[in-house]
Order: sequence, then structure tokens, then C-alpha cells
Amino acid sequence: MKVELRVNGEPCEADVWEGESLLYVLRERLGYPGSKNACEQGECGSCSVLFDGKLVCACLVLAAQAQGHDVVTVEGLADEVRLHRVQEAFVAAGAVQCGFCTPGFVVAAADLLERTPDPNDDEIREALSGNLCRCTGYAKIFDAVRMAASA
Ligand code: FES
Ligand code: FES
Repeated sequence: MKVELRVNGEPCEADVWEGESLLYVLRERLGYPGSKNACEQGECGSCSVLFDGKLVCACLVLAAQAQGHDVVTVEGLADEVRLHRVQEAFVAAGAVQCGFCTPGFVVAAADLLERTPDPNDDEIREALSGNLCRCTGYAKIFDAVRMAASA
């Protein structure tokens, strides 16, 4: 089947099998490899994207469900001139090690700051609770979110 959607503001069209995931469509059919594929079960958050403005795991959205919807991936957060403030803060805070989890954390943190510009630690913890990192121990990631909030 054919699906039409908007990705990072651009109209896109792809031939898909209706049972494949939005994550597969983004990465393998539309050329947006920023969202990472780790568990494919909604457990790790590495595939986090905004779907009509709501944070979702792209691995849990079927390709067919994306018809007519609006998707923002990590590639869509920066503008043409500079990185998103969350991306800058992750670099500045040293919150990236292997980097596999980073796109998901960045999208989730950007979503948090959109909704809650000055989050407390519990709100940061809650917002990032769906994202797993096996490298950093989370402290630097939390530092980055606090840094982005105060930027
Ligand atoms: S790959 Fe989607 S939540 Fe892990
Ligand atoms: S930086 Fe390696 S999994 Fe998070």
C-alpha cells in the first residue's frame, strides 16, 4: 500500500507493507536514520518521535497508521543554522557516550521542555522514564536537560 505523511514538515510518500512499523518506514524507506532501532518492543525509547505532536515509540506505530499524519524525528529538531538547544546541551554536558540512545532522549527532552519549560528533577525523571541508556548512568543526561531548560 502507499502511505502519505509529513516528516519534519516535508510531504512524503512511501510504498509499504501495512504491517511494518513507522520506524522501518522512516529509516529504510524515507532516509531518516536518526531514530534508532534497538528493541522494537516499545521498551527502550531509542525510536522516539513526535506523532502529531505526541511523543511515541515509532516501532509501535504501524506504517498504515501514519497515513495523513505529521511526524517529527530527531533530524527535524535543529533548524538550518544551529542545533536544537537540547542537542547543544547534550554535547556540552558530555551526555553522549555510544550515542545509540541519544536521539530518543533528545526528542523526549525537547518534548518535555516544550510542555514544561522549567521542569523539576521529578518531572525530568518522569519524562525520560521511557528511555534507556546503557552507558551514561543518566547523570549527564539529566545535567543536559537542566542545562537546556536554563539556556
Ligand atoms: S526500538 Fe522502539 S522502543 Fe525500543
Ligand atoms: S550513550 Fe550508549 S546507550 Fe546511551
